[in-house]
Amino acid sequence: MTTLTRRALAAGTALLLLSGAALAQAPIVIKFSHVVAPDTPKGRGADKFKELAEKYTNGKVKVEVYPNSQLFKDKEEVEALQLGAVQMLAPSLAKFGPLGAKEFEVFDLPYILPDKAALRRVTDGALGKRLFDKLQSKGITGLAYWDNGFKVMSANKPLRMPADFRGLKMRIQSSKVLEAQFRALGAIPQVMAFSEVYQGMQTGVVDGSENTPSNMFTQKHHEVQKYITLSDHGYIGYAVITNKKFWDGLPAEIRTELDKAMTEATSYANQVADKDNADALEEMKKSGKTTFITLTPDEKAAWKTALEPVTADMAKRVGKDVIEEFQKEAKGGTQ
Ligand code: LMR
Repeated sequence: MTTLTRRALAAGTALLLLSGAALAQAPIVIKFSHVVAPDTPKGRGADKFKELAEKYTNGKVKVEVYPNSQLFKDKEEVEALQLGAVQMLAPSLAKFGPLGAKEFEVFDLPYILPDKAALRRVTDGALGKRLFDKLQSKGITGLAYWDNGFKVMSANKPLRMPADFRGLKMRIQSSKVLEAQFRALGAIPQVMAFSEVYQGMQTGVVDGSENTPSNMFTQKHHEVQKYITLSDHGYIGYAVITNKKFWDGLPAEIRTELDKAMTEATSYANQVADKDNADALEEMKKSGKTTFITLTPDEKAAWKTALEPVTADMAKRVGKDVIEEFQKEAKGGTQ
């Protein structure tokens, strides 16, 4: 063997060793995809999880956050998670019905949640856990519930009484409960991906929608909707989920650190949610681009009456037992 060959071989071996070491240290990548803006409760939660996960694992895990439907739209993102194309998502609870986990739609029932304390009792209680258990057979592990807030209603005409909804095309997330809700108001529900709502409003494909103030403001819905009614008729929150196979395959010590990061990111996200929504409401008011409507007690009562049948009508789909357990836990009773 010539000196040159020996040197070349030695250099090759060194290169191999180097790339082997680099491979051994290559971080585990978690792609966290979501559909909302970074400056929303979910967006902030995802960014906080990234910060803490990378810190607690000393860089052994790298979290890539993709906001604003950059990677996937509503329905596609859950399929992408199941296929392993992304590792983490936080879809709204309304989006689990089409996956076959219809019980999650209990969160969409009008007026089922009086306040956030009631919400916390449900998500932290037996039902919250039972709902997550339902996801396992779909290759999904539920990690946490994240808050957004109570919904307001927007349109190009003032929505004061149920009769004002008659014939309006209202955008909904893909949820049978939300469909029933708008039918009960005499409107025509239209399923549409979140990223398409602004354009849908601008072009008149839909007349209005419901969402939280933080979602409406960050998507600029108030610029293409003349009225927003402060109705608080329902709730939007999220389940942070991961691909079960990916999660179970992680080294135990990494999973422990990620669990810790998730617990802290969850309390952070839940803490900022109320302020984000209050700020978004203020900003939209300040913009002067839309008129806000506060319902009188009589108007509120009329909405409640019109929407009351929805819960009974949906009991077959969502599960009577699930609704009853939800109501009991929300009130603070034990099952
Ligand atoms: C929607 O209206 O689709 C929103 O719930 C999106 C989201 O994730 O908040």
